[in-house]
Amino acid sequence: MADKPTVLVGRKLPEAVEARLKRDYDAILNPDDKLYTSEELIELSGKADAILPCHSEHFTAEVIEKLSDRVKVIANFSVGYDHVDTEAAKKKGIIVTNTPDVLSDATAEIAILLMLGAARRASEGDRLVRSKQWKDWSPAFMVGTQTTGKRFGVIGMGRVGQVAAKRARGFDMEIHYYNRKRLSPELEQGATFHADVDSLLESADVLSIHCPATSETKGLLNAEKIAKLPDGAIVVNTSRGAVVDDDALIEALKSGKLAAAGLDVFNGEPADIHPGYRELDNVFLLPHIGSATKDTRDAMGFRALDNLDAIFAGKEPGDRVA
Ligand code: DGY
Repeated sequence: MADKPTVLVGRKLPEAVEARLKRDYDAILNPDDKLYTSEELIELSGKADAILPCHSEHFTAEVIEKLSDRVKVIANFSVGYDHVDTEAAKKKGIIVTNTPDVLSDATAEIAILLMLGAARRASEGDRLVRSKQWKDWSPAFMVGTQTTGKRFGVIGMGRVGQVAAKRARGFDMEIHYYNRKRLSPELEQGATFHADVDSLLESADVLSIHCPATSETKGLLNAEKIAKLPDGAIVVNTSRGAVVDDDALIEALKSGKLAAAGLDVFNGEPADIHPGYRELDNVFLLPHIGSATKDTRDAMGFRALDNLDAIFAGKEPGDRVA
């Protein structure tokens, strides 16, 4: 029997995913969930036919160039693949895949949680209760923003954006979106399409960011764009921190231009996020947990394995991005 391909796994994966991986491949697992340095990844790549990383491992052009020629695939355990230089991978003949669809529900849940948490001042309220600073109740106490019936603006009406819009409809919100391509009426479900971002921004009481981080979307939500949002708008980001200009967002949260923001993703995460966020009361912050449910993490792992299975069976993987 031919040797099984060897898969280098970036992080500790769900039990069921590791069980299938071990059944079908020679797996180099990471039971301690250590975050490998680039040097370690490069060294370990000498033993691997494929790498199954998460977004926490960065495959820059320099790293990819130094990977062993043995590596034929980078099968990401993530829908986002901005941590992989796909041009460099193509140049080296490495196939890159991702895990779309399976995390849309979980991520949309977090978008709605962020919207509500930001609008209704959840972090502030939680802190008050825990710190025993909650002393009184009055009509003026902890007044937030009601989202029911307001306009929910989506940048990037892909799979996650569409589910988030569907959930927002449950709050009687009016859906507006900007996307590179207009959706079909079946997918649009009555949402208003905006052919340019500025027009969407002017129509968004809540702006939810769902576009990937690319060279085109980097810093997209800057001071000029924030100025287009209605006064008192709320910004939600479950996509990537890179889409936001942190200085501009923090300034708008401080000045009152924006009522609040709910953020699950950050530039410089996890350790080097902009310190300004930690000082603001009107932000609801989560540590990049959009896809963090057992169901979804299992499904992400299985999807990454489906891609590997196809490639090692000589077929086209379902989710090839390079
Ligand atoms: C994704 O899949 O891109 C999520 O952000 C987790 O990595």
